[in-house]
Amino acid sequence: MTAITHTRDDFPDGFVFGTATSAYQIEGHAQGGAGPTHWDSFAATPGNVERAENGDLACDHLHRWEADLDMIRDAGFDSYRFSMSWARLLPDGRGTPNAEGLAFYDRLIDGMLERGLKPAATLYHWEMPQPLADMGGWRNADMPAWFGDMTDLVARKFGDRLWSVAPINEPWCVAWLSHFMGVHAPGLRDIRATARAIHHVLKSHGTAIGVMRGHGMTNLGAVCNFEYPHPLTDSPEDVAAADRYDGFYNRVFLSGLFHGRYPDNVLEGLEPHLPSGWQDDFGVIQAPLDWLGLNYYTCKRIAHDDTAWPALKEVDGPPPHTQMGWEIYPEGLHHFLTRTATDYTGDLPLYVTENGMANPDVIRDGRIDDQPRIDYLNSHLASVRRALDDGAPVKGYYVWSLMDNYEWSRGYDQRFGLVHVDFDTLERTPKASWHAVRDMLVSA
Ligand code: NOJ
Repeated sequence: MTAITHTRDDFPDGFVFGTATSAYQIEGHAQGGAGPTHWDSFAATPGNVERAENGDLACDHLHRWEADLDMIRDAGFDSYRFSMSWARLLPDGRGTPNAEGLAFYDRLIDGMLERGLKPAATLYHWEMPQPLADMGGWRNADMPAWFGDMTDLVARKFGDRLWSVAPINEPWCVAWLSHFMGVHAPGLRDIRATARAIHHVLKSHGTAIGVMRGHGMTNLGAVCNFEYPHPLTDSPEDVAAADRYDGFYNRVFLSGLFHGRYPDNVLEGLEPHLPSGWQDDFGVIQAPLDWLGLNYYTCKRIAHDDTAWPALKEVDGPPPHTQMGWEIYPEGLHHFLTRTATDYTGDLPLYVTENGMANPDVIRDGRIDDQPRIDYLNSHLASVRRALDDGAPVKGYYVWSLMDNYEWSRGYDQRFGLVHVDFDTLERTPKASWHAVRDMLVSA
């Protein structure tokens, strides 16, 4: 069994190690007075989610949060990246808050602080309150105002105790995966909805940053996801297709946030569908940030395809793959950390806000030997180290995820956790990777 070969000393002083989860994936959404969300209705529609699984119970974190926080502390992590469920805070998305929900996050944040964990909050990790989804969700131009009002509630209740905040997790998934590919709620396949979602997500992000600044909050950032696009061949058509993929996947959000415009090879597909007056919104979208978070998992093989824009298709790459079927490509993390600093963010602190892999982990004799995950973390930490050597201002690294949880349309059998969850008994068992992380982080 190979351990993680890095130590804390390999990284700069103050480098933050953490682990991440999100509300709907772990809490148990049917409990504690939360309102319905578009993930509940999406999962209740046949064909959308494997085995039609939903987040009703999930890991029952709502009642087991103290033991879960203990496992984060005991692994030696410095920070916990978690999300607050909009529908738990405000069951209708607007209006009257849910006192039970506010009390839960109050206890949870205090529980982190008592354990010496820095609370790194996300305000939208994908479960949209159903009444807002019924009004068009991210397609609706009122969304920035609704999101701003929810942010104001969070700022007033918790702002003084949150170490960092990112308004929206992974704009690409919120906009593209959910409105163009139909894989996530609301399950649309509509280019106009996608263009509007991209723009309203960014405008909502900027609005939320402005609201939190107004409350004097600091350490505010954004979290984007990245995939490395290899052209399938070196033909000009495949190279251009991979560049389009890079545009709508990786560059469009960074370009909006840091350059105040959208890339030309994205506008060629989306411009007719953007909401009127979109060019005037970049003042809001470009609200100054204190850091940028990068979520990174995999690469893709991209080929030209003679269809409608973006006229490309994904082709399976060589092994090794994770349980999700994702190719393992640690070099991509180095690429995005260095390119982001060079092209967009300069000296702005960067965090790897998610990295990890799904593995078909099983318990044998009370132990879970997830060596592939240890190897995955090891190779990606080496990539972070190389990015630091090349001058990227990386300040921290978070493992996705603390424990096995609800992997959205893939349901519960995609296991991303450092800790195994038995979804019949809800018993937690630390895997070999949890022990490897602890050996790395907790000095002898
Ligand atoms: C990205 C998301 O933020 C998280 O919700 C998801 O579970 C992981 N990646 C793995 O797919």
